[in-house]
Amino acid sequence: MSSTPLMPAYAERLIRGRRATRAFLPAPVPERTLHDIFTLAGAAPSSSNTQPWLVEVVSGETRDRLSKALLAAKEENAFTFDYPYDDTMYSGNSVRWRQDMGARMYSSLGIARDDHEGRHVILRDNLRFFGAPHVALMFMPPNAEERMANDTGLYAQTLMLAMTAHGVASCPQASLGFFCDTIRETLGISDNKLIFGISFGYADESSPRNQVRMPRAELAETTRFHR
Ligand SMILES: Cc1cc2nc3c(=O)[nH]c(=O)nc-3n(C[C@H](O)[C@H](O)[C@H](O)COP(=O)(O)O)c2cc1C
Repeated sequence: MSSTPLMPAYAERLIRGRRATRAFLPAPVPERTLHDIFTLAGAAPSSSNTQPWLVEVVSGETRDRLSKALLAAKEENAFTFDYPYDDTMYSGNSVRWRQDMGARMYSSLGIARDDHEGRHVILRDNLRFFGAPHVALMFMPPNAEERMANDTGLYAQTLMLAMTAHGVASCPQASLGFFCDTIRETLGISDNKLIFGISFGYADESSPRNQVRMPRAELAETTRFHR
């Protein structure tokens, strides 16, 4: 497909228009729009076109029941991971960027960095899907190895960009992958593996939570051109 003069400007708007949204309006996304968005997301690339993502889209009464189950699991410290999460995986500049992100997000939520209870408030907010009417959970087949997370990650970004194009906001959430057994039990899933979820719906633009902007590294910090 060849580019037209407008396409770079559209790409800028689309890619920079997607942001992690942490306050949503309760209005659901119409069924037709859901169908269009998830159909478009299926155009994502994958290794050998394997398309290993198995997506569970949860809305309505099941969404409410899932949130309740997650909050109860959190109170019982019933964390269960399909893919382990360990803070020590971050190194180099990522450590600094992660701290910067935490400071910006905490201040947008009015929480002090050393506020221990504040961290619990944030996790609970994640488990309420930030008020979003829908959540899409990214599962993979039972034997999926970490490498296949590449494909699911590319699918997820394609999905979020499709949402952005339709005026639908999203928040990718690794935190939903801290309660894999609870999610499987609530949705009646036997053995597929969960890596993360994406809450989505219409953004509450009036919320200070949605005013936070995360800066990016200068190009030279992440990218070298060899000639
Ligand atoms: C795989 C992944 C997992 C994430 N997990 C969470 C999460 O659990 N909770 C949350 O509030 N944000 C989460 N985020 C959102 C990031 O913090 C956010 O994308 C990043 O700070 C850049 O900000 P932006 O998306 O607004 O540009 C996650 C993002 C990704 C890609």
